[in-house]
Amino acid sequence: MTEKSSLAAGTLGGASVRTQQSAARGLWSSRWVFFLAATGSAVGLGNIWKFPYITGENGGGAFVLVYLGCILTIGIPLLMAEVLIGRRGRQNPAGAVANLAREAGASLHWRTVGWLGGFTGFLILSFYVVVAGWALAYVPTTLSGSFTGADAAASAALFDALLTDPLRLVLYGSAVLAVTMLIVGLGVRDGLERALRFMMPGLFILLLGLVGYAAVAGDFARAVEFLFVPDFSALSAESMLLALGHAFFTLSLGCGAMMAYGSYLPKGVSIAKTSLLVALADTSVALLAGLAIFPLVFANGLEPGSGPGLIFVTLPIAFGQMPLGQLFGGLFFVMLVLAAVSSTISLSEPGIAWLNERFGISRAKAVLTTGAVLWLLSLASVFSFNHWADYQLFGRTFFDSMDYLTANWLMPLGGLGTVLFTGWVLKEKVVREAVGIVHPGWFRVWWNLLRFGTPVAIGLVFFSLIGVI
Ligand code: PFF
Repeated sequence: MTEKSSLAAGTLGGASVRTQQSAARGLWSSRWVFFLAATGSAVGLGNIWKFPYITGENGGGAFVLVYLGCILTIGIPLLMAEVLIGRRGRQNPAGAVANLAREAGASLHWRTVGWLGGFTGFLILSFYVVVAGWALAYVPTTLSGSFTGADAAASAALFDALLTDPLRLVLYGSAVLAVTMLIVGLGVRDGLERALRFMMPGLFILLLGLVGYAAVAGDFARAVEFLFVPDFSALSAESMLLALGHAFFTLSLGCGAMMAYGSYLPKGVSIAKTSLLVALADTSVALLAGLAIFPLVFANGLEPGSGPGLIFVTLPIAFGQMPLGQLFGGLFFVMLVLAAVSSTISLSEPGIAWLNERFGISRAKAVLTTGAVLWLLSLASVFSFNHWADYQLFGRTFFDSMDYLTANWLMPLGGLGTVLFTGWVLKEKVVREAVGIVHPGWFRVWWNLLRFGTPVAIGLVFFSLIGVI
C-alpha cells in the first residue's frame, strides 16, 4: 500500500480520530505561500537581534564566514531533509517520522526525533516571546519620541529601565504569546498567509532603508571590514560551535518547524529550489541587519560585543536622529514583532499539531494548555533580568541557559536525528524522488553531505562540547 492510500485508509494513522484529521489537512495554496511561511519562520529575532550581537561578541568576519559555511553545508541540506519528511509523512513531525519509518520498515522509535523537536521548540518559545516582548515594548517607546536626540548612554538607560521592570516585560511578552496562540489556535494556514504577504516585503524594505541611513550616518567602511574581513585570531572553538548553533536557529532547524510546514506543502513543488530560496532570504536579512547596525555601533563608540541589548541600544539612537525617526522606528519595531510572531507560530505548530493529531485534543484546548505552561516558563526568563538575575543554571541565568541548551545541544541533536533518519533509514530512491534535485551530480553532493558531512560535523560539535576534542 502506498503512503498516500494507507493514510487515507487509516492503516498508518492507527486511531480513527487521527485518520480523519489527516484526511482533513489542508495544503498551502501555492509554492509562494509556503516560501512566505517558511521564510517567516526562518526570519525573525535570530536574524535581527541575535545574529548581530553574537557576531559582535565573536569578533566579526571570521565568525560570519564559519556561519555562512554552516548554512551552506549543514543548514541547507538539513532544511531540505526536514521539508521532505514533512511532505511525505503528511503529519505533525512525530507522526510524519513514524509514517516514514513504517514505510521503510524501521523502528517507530525514530519518532523521538519529532518529539524532541517539539520539546525544543517549546523551550525556545519560553525565552523567544520575552525578547519579542522587548520589541513590542519599543513600539510605543519609539513612537512617543523617547529616543529623540538620545545618545548612547541615554539609549542604554532606557533599555535597562525596561529589563528591570518585570511587570512591563510580563505584559508585553504575554501579549506576544497570546497573539501567537490565537493564530495557531485558528489554524496556521489561514491567518498567516494574509499577514505574511505584506510583512516580509515590508521588513525587507525597511531594513534596506536602515542600511541606507547607516551608510550615510554611520561608519560604514569599518562595519563592512568588521563583518567581511575575517580575523581568524578572533575565532575560538566556542565561537565555531555558536556559529553552527546559530545556523540551526536561524533556519528553524532541529525543532520540527520546517517538518510541520513541509507537511502542508503540495506535491510537485521542488523542495530543493524552495529551500535554497528560503535560506537565501534568511541569510540576506541577517547580513542586512549587520550592515544596518554595525555602522551605527562604530559611529557612536558603542561596544560591538555588548550582548543581547545591542540592537535595542543602537537602533534607537539612529531613530532618534533621523528625520521622521519616530515613525520609522515605530514601524521597524512593529515589523520586528511581526517577524518574531511568524517564527513563534512555527515554533508552536509541531507541538499543537501533535496533541491534536495524536490524541484528538482540539486545537483550542491544546493551545490553552500549552500557552499556560509556556507563560509560566517565560516568567523565569523575564525574572532572569531582574529578581532572579543572581540565580544560575549551569553557570548561566535561566534565559541564557535556555538559549544555550537549545541552540548548542537540542537543535543539533534534533538535526542529527533527522539526517541519520533521512540518510540512513529512508530508501535512496524514495528520497531522490521526493527532494526534487533533478541533476544527478547535485543530488549526489546533497546525499553525501546529508549522510556523511552533516553527522560528522554535528558529532564534532558534541565532542568538543563535552571536552573530548
Ligand atoms: N528562525 C527563527 C529566528 O531566526 O528568529 C527562530 C526559530 C523559529 C527557531 C522556529 C526554531 C524554530 F523552529
